[in-house]
Amino acid sequence: MFDRKMDRLLGIKTTGTRDWQEGIKHYHRYEATSYKALYELSRNYRFRSTDKVVDFGCGKGRVVFYLHHCFHIPVTGIEANAKTYEEAVENKVKYIRKSKKIIAPIEFVHCPAQYYKISKADNCFYFFNPFSVQIFREVVGNILRSVEKDRRTVSLILYYPPNEYRDFLRFSTPFVISDEIKIPGEIDEREKFTIYRLPEF
Ligand SMILES: C[S@@+](CC[C@H](N)C(=O)[O-])C[C@H]1O[C@@H](n2cnc3c(N)ncnc32)[C@H](O)[C@@H]1O
Repeated sequence: MFDRKMDRLLGIKTTGTRDWQEGIKHYHRYEATSYKALYELSRNYRFRSTDKVVDFGCGKGRVVFYLHHCFHIPVTGIEANAKTYEEAVENKVKYIRKSKKIIAPIEFVHCPAQYYKISKADNCFYFFNPFSVQIFREVVGNILRSVEKDRRTVSLILYYPPNEYRDFLRFSTPFVISDEIKIPGEIDEREKFTIYRLPEF
């Protein structure tokens, strides 16, 4: 109910789920981060005016539009499912029509996350359990190579992180947990945001 109300406020449609056809194992289904969780993120995480967010597996774009609406920062959504990507683009048209004044860019890219070329301006990476840990490893590898080339502060925001993601980051990368944001009233231990940063920055 609240999700539909927030969608209406932003002028977009992001509810529902979408499964991949059978046989596609590494790509997870579409389901949006709840607005309740996004509200907690926006209250507790300090997005800076220099942040450029990438949502890997953005679905219909809920996180993209919400963060753009709240913080007026550039946000890019990467989506592999053609139909879902088209819906994100349709949402962008409606969001712009409703917001009227858009300064920071909103971009959607139709490609598998592991093939997205990370730009040196990208510095905040959002994941809501979009794909298998095998693909997650590739994407994090791309982020680390990008930082190696163009040194900068980056953060990963993981919503509802699977244990495999956490173990991989802990044992195989320099990323460390810098914060956890819980969702009030949720009893599931994984129902939270975990924020990672690189320690040397
Ligand atoms: C759980 S949904 C999260 C949607 C959005 N990030 C949010 O939080 O509202 C995961 C999305 O990732 C997409 N996806 C799965 N594998 C992908 C891949 N390899 N590259 C890009 N998108 C992918 C799915 O199609 C789905 O839309």
